[in-house]
Amino acid sequence: MRLVILGLPGAGKGTQAENIAEKYGLNAISTGAILRDAAKEEGRFRKEVQEYMSQGELVPDEWMNRLVKDYLEENELEDDFILDGYPRTLQQAKALEAYLQRKNQTLDAVLFLDVDEDVLRQRLLQRSKSHSLEKKRQDDQPEVIENRLRINKELTESLLEFYQQRNLLYVINGEGDPDTVFKTIEKVINRKK
Ligand code: AP5
Repeated sequence: MRLVILGLPGAGKGTQAENIAEKYGLNAISTGAILRDAAKEEGRFRKEVQEYMSQGELVPDEWMNRLVKDYLEENELEDDFILDGYPRTLQQAKALEAYLQRKNQTLDAVLFLDVDEDVLRQRLLQRSKSHSLEKKRQDDQPEVIENRLRINKELTESLLEFYQQRNLLYVINGEGDPDTVFKTIEKVINRKK
């Protein structure tokens, strides 16, 4: 199965992508996690990636398209994946579609986790107060959170329209507790299998 999970920052994409990957035997691919790892390692783009991410700005489309394509190909994951954090722009969505078309493939479904913005703010601020260093994120500072929400809001609207037109979109209420949200997701995926 080839899935995409969409949602504004804090909507629960990472949490639910892991649940889905475990239950359905898919590979959860988080572009945010890949970039956070890249930002720790020596490399050409390290500083630039760090800068984009710490401000909540988007890494350029060309980099992201290349990164995801290489990641899927190198790890031979083209048939069983759930993408979390990508695509994030219309340009990325079109690049993913073209990439899959070249392999005679399509996505099976796109899940959108719908969560009110104030709930998102609370979740991200809560995570910023986490005592565990592992969970703390540099971009969970109040002004960066606002920037992330602002940037992603408009882009998400166009992505929803893009996938709605292709009959791939499933809107999931993302406001319950994680288990309740996952139960709703399971119903959608089980219908697609
Ligand atoms: P990324 O890591 O993708 O961050 P994000 O989209 O801002 O989303 P988060 O990871 O903060 O939230 P999430 O929706 O995954 O929710 P989570 O499960 O973590 O990207 C980071 C940065 O990388 C971007 O800003 C950009 O710079 C760059 N980037 C990445 N992809 C890119 C791309 N394609 N193009 C360009 N740039 C890109 O949950 C959040 C919190 O809420 C957690 O504490 C969790 O425990 C809690 N929680 C989850 N679900 C629930 C629930 N149901 N109820 C209560 N709490 C919940």
